[in-house]
Amino acid sequence: MPEVIIVEDADQAGQLVARRIADAIAARPNFVLGVATGSTPLTTYQALAEIATREQLPLDRVQAFALDEYVGLPEDHSESYAKVVDREVAERLGLAPGNVHVPSGTAADAEAGTAYEAAIREAGGIDLQLLGIGSSGHIGFNEPGSPFDSRTRVVELIDQTRHDNARFFPSVDDVPTHAITQGIGTILEARQLVLLAFGERKAAAVAAALQGPVTEAMPASVLHRHPSALVVIDRAAASKLED
Ligand code: GLP
Repeated sequence: MPEVIIVEDADQAGQLVARRIADAIAARPNFVLGVATGSTPLTTYQALAEIATREQLPLDRVQAFALDEYVGLPEDHSESYAKVVDREVAERLGLAPGNVHVPSGTAADAEAGTAYEAAIREAGGIDLQLLGIGSSGHIGFNEPGSPFDSRTRVVELIDQTRHDNARFFPSVDDVPTHAITQGIGTILEARQLVLLAFGERKAAAVAAALQGPVTEAMPASVLHRHPSALVVIDRAAASKLED
């Protein structure tokens, strides 16, 4: 069972997770951080940037690897995950551009997946992978039914996910239909997983992932198979958990 910490709000979660990441970076300056996009990890990035400035964390050798990327958006599209990771992570933390990696959504094919896996290996593997959870239970863009041994690959997004992410685009029709994502097997190889979830909208997926069967039908349930998984959620996201 993953360790579960229930916090008051997203800010408190951000402080807690950022503190752990900062301590790990201080101990290991070539730390490899797996980053998630979406709204959920933003307070963590903000808190980490504040700690980094205050404590003069050595970030020049830290590498970041994104979980996923939309397929087919122009590279400079403001909602491409390459741009989001630049804006929310790299610029805030002052990471060297060459140390920030996002799978290619413009040349997204089997080769792009293999190249991304090779880059992760070359960096020595991911030390800590941040995860959000989709309302479908997805992690990265691994929708229900994704094999637990899947690797980085191109996937089709389900309608529910495209509707959830429509808030970042003019309309749901503008949300890409495909993405390239680290596979569940890839994610499981990170040395530590930290899943964050806030709000009532995530409560059903959180309960199914933590207290339902471990099944490919609920991707986040795979956290039970990881030796070091932490789940940090607010009370609303925890509201469907049973004692
Ligand atoms: C997105 C991303 C995931 C993210 C999840 C939740 O589509 N591909 O990596 O964790 O869905 O997003 P949010 O944090 O905005 O709720």
